[in-house]
Amino acid sequence: MSKILITGANKGIGFETARRLVAEGHTIYLGSRDAERGRRAADEVGARAIQLDVIDDESVNAAVGVIRAEGGLDVLINNAGIQAEMGDGGVIGAAGLTAEIMRETFETNVFGVVRVLHAFLPLLQQSEAPVVVNVSSGLASLAGVTTPGSPLYQYPGVAYPASKTAVNMLTIQYAKAFPEIRINSVEPGYTKTDLNNYSGHQTVAEAAEIIVRMAQIGADGPTGGYFDINGTLPW
Ligand SMILES: NC(=O)c1ccc[n+]([C@@H]2O[C@H](COP(=O)([O-])OP(=O)(O)OC[C@H]3O[C@@H](n4cnc5c(N)ncnc54)[C@H](OP(=O)(O)O)[C@@H]3O)[C@@H](O)[C@H]2O)c1
Repeated sequence: MSKILITGANKGIGFETARRLVAEGHTIYLGSRDAERGRRAADEVGARAIQLDVIDDESVNAAVGVIRAEGGLDVLINNAGIQAEMGDGGVIGAAGLTAEIMRETFETNVFGVVRVLHAFLPLLQQSEAPVVVNVSSGLASLAGVTTPGSPLYQYPGVAYPASKTAVNMLTIQYAKAFPEIRINSVEPGYTKTDLNNYSGHQTVAEAAEIIVRMAQIGADGPTGGYFDINGTLPW
């Protein structure tokens, strides 16, 4: 059984992933930037709440201290994410994109992942079978968004897909740098959550499936890959 941290797990896909992994018998640290919302969510599924704001060094370092003191970490699921370009009128495309929207998006989706990875790497390296799951998106796929006729091609947003493409690059480069750690990107699928004002067509149960699977790959599992529930995706 593994000790698993999930960032941004007080709701949505992360919360469902926590529920599933607790049921599998793992020790789950349910990360939430708001301590009270995290405590309520953790109580509901039988996880341990941990305050963790991925854009705040102090918060991340404090979480490392707590988890280190309790025995370390085997699996990190970088799930926290935002879609800052979802305006009232729908997704903001290139015409409306500002540097501020881009910065806000990268702050959480990219720099947040780097901050959390950097802080938890020493603990992961002490695990016998360390695993990282980076929750990416199908929209990260350059192959997908350049294939006319594909639903990905139609998506007008810039900041969110760019941030997830950057997450995929993190997966590739960290996997090469740390061959002893299984590090993969996953695409949970278009899912009804707050992130997209519930416009998705999947349930969180369906979305959590690939995250739960990749969180539990053994030491002989793949690394440096990009997967959805049906297998490998094109970068
Ligand atoms: N829904 C989809 O269709 C879809 C598709 C592909 C990939 N994804 C990815 O799946 C992941 C989960 O998204 P979701 O759909 O479940 O969205 P969600 O319901 O909006 O959940 C996002 C979670 O991230 C947290 N979060 C945001 N900023 C944070 C920060 N600075 N520090 C810590 N936590 C933070 C949120 O916390 P608060 O409650 O405090 O805001 C929330 O717990 C994201 O990485 C998203 O990009 C989603």
